[in-house]
Amino acid sequence: MSTDGPGLTYVVQPGGQLSGSLRVPGDKSISHRAVMFGSLAEGVSEVTGFLTGEDCLCTMKAFQAMGVRIEQLGPTHLRVHGVGLHGLKAPSGPLDLGNSGTSMRLMSGLMAAQAFETTLIGDVSLSKRPMRRIVDPLRQMGATIATTEKGTSPLKFSAAGGLKAISYESPVASAQVKSGILLAGLYADGKTEVREPEASRDHTERMLRGFGVEVEATPGYAAVRGGQRLKATNIEVPADISSATFPMVAAAIVPGSDLLLTAVGINPTRTGIIEILRRMGTQIDLTNERLFGGEPVADIRVRGGQLKGIAIGGDLVASAIDEFPAVFVAAACASGTTVVTEAEELRVKESDRIAAMCDGLTALGVSAIAQPDGAIITGGGIGGGTVDSKGDHRIAMSFAIAGLRATGAITILDCANVNTSFPGFVSLMGKAGLRVSEQQPS
Ligand code: S3P
Repeated sequence: MSTDGPGLTYVVQPGGQLSGSLRVPGDKSISHRAVMFGSLAEGVSEVTGFLTGEDCLCTMKAFQAMGVRIEQLGPTHLRVHGVGLHGLKAPSGPLDLGNSGTSMRLMSGLMAAQAFETTLIGDVSLSKRPMRRIVDPLRQMGATIATTEKGTSPLKFSAAGGLKAISYESPVASAQVKSGILLAGLYADGKTEVREPEASRDHTERMLRGFGVEVEATPGYAAVRGGQRLKATNIEVPADISSATFPMVAAAIVPGSDLLLTAVGINPTRTGIIEILRRMGTQIDLTNERLFGGEPVADIRVRGGQLKGIAIGGDLVASAIDEFPAVFVAAACASGTTVVTEAEELRVKESDRIAAMCDGLTALGVSAIAQPDGAIITGGGIGGGTVDSKGDHRIAMSFAIAGLRATGAITILDCANVNTSFPGFVSLMGKAGLRVSEQQPS
């Protein structure tokens, strides 16, 4: 689903320093949910600060294909004409969700409850990602869903004949799984509960409340009663802390850098990166703390300095799950060793992120030893060379910021999917001081 094709290459010239003030694009998790919940609501919702990355555009197109009118009033401003919980219409063909795991797992909960058949498909990466984690609980609720033998997509949903509420102990801390089950729970008889081994991001719980739904939630637990209706509301999307992570780490690894990231979402289930960088020795100050609807937001000032290696595991993993590729780069620039454990989920993201990062860092001369659930990275010099992003947006952006501390140019292959989450990455980071350019495929 990428606009540029798989051949897009980044070339990063070594050195540089970051300064100034940046606003990164809107939060991906919140943008997906704003379109989904706005579509299911009664009335018209406006969304500002929407992320127009490929992933969220896939969600938008999928709801349009099910009869929802969504107007684009400005570059990041949508007007969603909700059709109500029971107003979606059968799409004319499979819904293509591109690279987006969030679209597929959350929409699975919704498709499981519809009175029509649907098929969800995705790109090569999404077609390899595990879907039993969401399909199994939905089957327990009474849904009929076919997968491949490996438990991957295409996912074929039969027309539903009514769902029953479940009380589910999830084996993984996954907001996608939790949210998919809660969305199905809106259509079920009774109270649907999800318990998780660690607290995952809680945007679904917060935003459903904004749409007038009663949700019970404590860290690691969430529940909804079926039959509640969503009432339209306006959503202001904060800048994505997972996208802000790239300029934050970029500033942190270069002594003398001083960068301000504005209007960044600081939901406590997402701020692991701030904690990790502080523990590594970075000076980070939050100012102008405020709320965008139910979501806390702040301006984040990062000043670069010498980092030290640390141990990262436990509950820090879930609250920084998308940030590890960038954390691996910070570790490569730190003095001493960084040990990441309990992060086996990294192996089933848009790529196997443990392998992709350790392979790439090794190619650049860094000691990065992959472990089943993490890695051991010893700081030292980063050399120049060529690395493969494996088509994973966050791997591509991580190696781009590594260029700031490299001794030679870094060429990064297969970068088109940066558009899934951070459109405009090259120009925005270029303005702040990163020497990165794009080479279009010939
Ligand atoms: C997301 C949840 C996380 C995260 C992903 C977005 C969400 O995935 O990695 O980028 O919006 O719910 P998991 O639920 O698989 O942990």
